[in-house]
Amino acid sequence: MKRIHTFMAVCLLLVCLAPAGSAYGLPRIRILATGGTIAGVGASSTGSAYKPGQLGVDQLLAAVPEIKEVAEVTGEQVFTIASQDMTVADWLQLARRVNELLARDDVDGIVLTHGTDTMEETAYFLNLTVKSDKPVVLTGAMRPATSLSADGPLNLFDAVVTAGAEESAGRGVLVVLNGTVSGARDVMKTHTLDVETFRSPNTGALGYVSDAKVHYRMDGEKLHTAHSVFDVTGLTELPRVGIVYGYAGAEPALVEALVQKGYAGIVHAGVGNGNIAADVFPALIQARNKGVQIVRSSRIPSGPSTLNAEVDDEANRFIAALDLSPQKARILLMLALTQTNDWKEIQRLFEEY
Ligand code: DGL
Repeated sequence: MKRIHTFMAVCLLLVCLAPAGSAYGLPRIRILATGGTIAGVGASSTGSAYKPGQLGVDQLLAAVPEIKEVAEVTGEQVFTIASQDMTVADWLQLARRVNELLARDDVDGIVLTHGTDTMEETAYFLNLTVKSDKPVVLTGAMRPATSLSADGPLNLFDAVVTAGAEESAGRGVLVVLNGTVSGARDVMKTHTLDVETFRSPNTGALGYVSDAKVHYRMDGEKLHTAHSVFDVTGLTELPRVGIVYGYAGAEPALVEALVQKGYAGIVHAGVGNGNIAADVFPALIQARNKGVQIVRSSRIPSGPSTLNAEVDDEANRFIAALDLSPQKARILLMLALTQTNDWKEIQRLFEEY
């Protein structure tokens, strides 16, 4: 009898000492599915025509039984959309749900399956609004589930491995596709078709996944997640910010239209170091004088739009996007405007996030 008691005590001790995870020590990962190509179905396995968001989260998980060896997963279908249709309201709903789940003791990490078109935007938005150090990983696919050599199943497996790895905690929101682990702030989609489409031109990837293990080689520098000042709890919308693309011969019509529509901010995706065509400049000044915040970014995928370069930002009270892309500068400006309308303070936030 004494031997049984000892055995039971040892078992109890082992379970208590097991790392965060299920009774078997596996990490407990919640999969939030939103649609996209990873859930896409095509008429043929070799063509590029397909409909995104056709398969549900259970079907995605059923296609990768190996996941059960590395984590205890439960799935949730949040949306069934192509990610070009993602909205600010959808982001706010996702942030609420992610924060709810990560506050629970029985959730060790989250994987979001998502279309690749706007994945970098959702990832950065969550990077600024998730209030936890637990891993949040976005993944997707460049080929539909019905394609020859579909990339979705291994991407999903790698994303679960990454979300379940203790070393992924505290690194901010991550994007995992094609065996690469990227940081939400610096990653961007760089090719319309390639499976190796996600790159971080200014910083490089954070690490890689192979043989069901994640290997980190660097960390991001900027503030994020649990150390972010932004809190969207209770918000049902954000201040509207639009993006105006710069090019030779650009005219002021688009800037004027955004001002007329009452936009709170305009990101100008300029040429070179965030430069602005002479015909557009006065419209931006006029917008600024009406209280619209103006961010100077660049249409060029790498390198910063620096403060006071060819444009005197201080004199014009413009904000320099530094090395944020136009689409990410828009997200940071929307969130900054929930905190302040002071352009100097907003510039500081662009230095930190
Ligand atoms: N419609 C695109 C999207 O949902 C498909 C791209 C993809 O998911 O890879 O983002």
